[in-house]
Amino acid sequence: CGVIGYIGSNATPEFFYNGLKRLEYRGYDSAGIAMMNSDGVFIQRAEGKLNNLQNKLANLPASTRIGIGHTRWATHGKPTESNAHPHRSENIVLLHNGIIENYKSLKDFLITKGYKFQSETDTEVAAHLLNYEYKKLAEEKNSFERIKKAIFSLVSQIHGAFAFGILCTDVPDTLFVIKYGSPIVLGLGKNENYMASGITALVDHTRSIIIMEDKEIAFLNAESISIVDFAGKEVLRKPIEISWSTAMLDKNGYDHYMLKEIHEQPQAVAQTIKGRLDRDIGKINLENYGISKINLKEIERIQIVACGTSYYAGCLARYFIEQFTRIPVEVDLASESRYRTPTVTAKTLSVALSQSGETIDTLQAIKFAKENGAKTLAIVNMPGSTIAHNCHDESLIYAGPEVGVASTKALSAQISSLIILGLALAQEQKKLSSEKIAEYIDELVKIPSLLEKTLTLSSYIEHLSKKFYNALSILFIGRGPQWYVAMEGALKLKELSYIHAEGYAAGELKHGPIALIDENIWSVCIAPKDSYYEKTISNIEEIRARGGKILAVGTEGDENLKSISDEFIGVPECSELIQPFLTTVPLHLLSYWVAVKKGTDVDQPRNLAKSVTVE
Ligand code: G6P
Repeated sequence: CGVIGYIGSNATPEFFYNGLKRLEYRGYDSAGIAMMNSDGVFIQRAEGKLNNLQNKLANLPASTRIGIGHTRWATHGKPTESNAHPHRSENIVLLHNGIIENYKSLKDFLITKGYKFQSETDTEVAAHLLNYEYKKLAEEKNSFERIKKAIFSLVSQIHGAFAFGILCTDVPDTLFVIKYGSPIVLGLGKNENYMASGITALVDHTRSIIIMEDKEIAFLNAESISIVDFAGKEVLRKPIEISWSTAMLDKNGYDHYMLKEIHEQPQAVAQTIKGRLDRDIGKINLENYGISKINLKEIERIQIVACGTSYYAGCLARYFIEQFTRIPVEVDLASESRYRTPTVTAKTLSVALSQSGETIDTLQAIKFAKENGAKTLAIVNMPGSTIAHNCHDESLIYAGPEVGVASTKALSAQISSLIILGLALAQEQKKLSSEKIAEYIDELVKIPSLLEKTLTLSSYIEHLSKKFYNALSILFIGRGPQWYVAMEGALKLKELSYIHAEGYAAGELKHGPIALIDENIWSVCIAPKDSYYEKTISNIEEIRARGGKILAVGTEGDENLKSISDEFIGVPECSELIQPFLTTVPLHLLSYWVAVKKGTDVDQPRNLAKSVTVE
């Protein structure tokens, strides 16, 4: 979910709406805004996309000194208007990002106290519970102290993950914010202050940001912000300055963020490698990469935890890290990694790979690794993220803000970052000579311009997409690192165009999935000229022998591959280290253009959210 809050002198309904628009990638199934002034509290909520709320903005006051807004990704209860936030319980108006795990027992209790529920959400439980605690404290005549005490009672009773923005009608000069598990940032303005679930909502207004930490409560006035922890102890935290510009958050003339972000891959990789490689001496600059506390010399094993596209970035990079270092690398789906008996040690490097730095599955996985003694490194795109905060070291990728829900440029930046990590380990453990490292550096710096060249395929792929948008099911196969390019291609196609797609290791096809092949099925076969080329060609022949249709993604000018394929996309010739960067591009473009042809919502596919902060 996305949340925004304001306190100051003059926020219009559009202020909240535009802030939510910036956060829409976090959830887009319903939305709401509450504004409070001397005439009372005004709430407007709407089911479905934010645009539906836009039609109701006229029902809100023209401006307010204090207010909150929410865009939802449903957990408990359907995405209806009555389940949309904010929720009100008499003097309390509140919105929430996260899950209250014990909401059922609390709800039963509140029903016995006479509370009537209008929604199916866990959030309404928090609104009523806070109201209940507030009422109990009637003898406290100072309303601020009273609501503060009630908030402490609330947080001592609810379990789960939560970030709340709260208005209390008796304390109109304070916006209350609670953070536990779900992300919250505070923004400092001139005689106005803000809160939001992500920096993107605030860059239009301020660059000065305070990242809240777990178990903290913030009190925002127009002039100041104070923070206490759940034990009531005052917390002093300096703001950080954010360099993102609003231009980075716009579509820059592209029809969709996704297309813009696919085209930003050359810069994403260039920025990520910049300053971290010294070609002349064949050296990785550990400090610039972000390694300061972890001693890479001691690492005997690597674990990468991640979800979605980030998981595939980890799986793909494993081939290179192992090649450089001979250190075993395991890649775990973050949501599953805690269900195995921990085997990490102080000599394990656990890497949390996450674009947003907020994915709760990845956060829990890395906390688990740390608790069990591993050294932890966050590789994230968002500065000041929760995941980074929980790791020993933090290395930023510099992909710039990624708004399209389906991740594209972050993937290339993540793979580049992991390759640098592999080289850094090889350097520290003397597994590669500086000459060899210099050779790899030479390769890495070629990636941006080769990506630029590959991106010129876009209009050809747009044309090809006509053949695919009616497909019911498509297989993707590849070998070695290209196996994970295939997995990523299948993931993107299904999430964007809702066409069933499966990625397989090419050699695994004959062990089962080949049964699916007939003349109606397309297989996307990724076969650049690499060490496994001949074997992948044999797998393509096996598909052909069964009448299946083939779209091959291979090396430019590969007439052999072209002759056995129905359609062919050639990417520039390059080394095996670079190939997966290039072969990913046509697959991202294919899923994009197929989705455009189908007319699905490219930037906000159904049922998804970009940053998933529930388990
Ligand atoms: C969500 C997004 C995916 C993304 C995944 C991991 O499911 O829809 O595009 O790959 O989260 O996100 P992260 O921010 O941790 O990389």
